[in-house]
Amino acid sequence: MRVKILDHPLVSHKVTVLRDRETPSPQFRQLVDELVTLLAYEATRNIRVEPKTVRTPVTETEGVVMARPRPLVVPILRAGLGMLEGMTRLIPTAEVGFLGMARHEETLDIVTYAERLPDDLTGRQVYVLDPMLATGGTLIESIKFLRERGADHITCLCILAAPEGMKALSEGVEGMKNVDLFLAAQDERLNEKAYIVPGLGDAGDRLYGLAD
Ligand code: URA
Repeated sequence: MRVKILDHPLVSHKVTVLRDRETPSPQFRQLVDELVTLLAYEATRNIRVEPKTVRTPVTETEGVVMARPRPLVVPILRAGLGMLEGMTRLIPTAEVGFLGMARHEETLDIVTYAERLPDDLTGRQVYVLDPMLATGGTLIESIKFLRERGADHITCLCILAAPEGMKALSEGVEGMKNVDLFLAAQDERLNEKAYIVPGLGDAGDRLYGLAD
């Protein structure tokens, strides 16, 4: 797994405001949106293109356009939804699928509770959106799910990650080719409740303004 942590003062500024407990939901959503667009700019460097000839008002020239099949963007419900618009603004022609994953209360296994994806992802480039890489469980299961459907290249976009989750993810996808992770920042650790420290709290609650 290749990991890239964005190193840019504008990204650091936005992450700092995002962390602030006083930042209200509307501003939080706006910042997530802006950060995703910056992350997406880096994460889509590998997007597949194909040659295309265009006629300008002056002459004919060779350019490129996004290749088919189109990339698929998959927000992981619920918090990943807050990243969708920032991503599709950059790739408006991307297809969008949805995955809902949750930890089963008794078995503690990650279970898929919602899924709206093409049956066959053979050869597809997939961009997975999940703001918080905490234990890594959800992202590992999502990647396995997408790979079983045939996804060829999986790029995960997260805003914050704990080292524990990054290690688990790297081990969970060991041996899989073409898995990339893009982060706005790497944090210090997980606490006993599996929250990222210093983190930003519960991303879903902060995005959507619910107490629980
Ligand atoms: N999910 C969150 O929303 N926040 C954390 O800190 C960890 C997981």
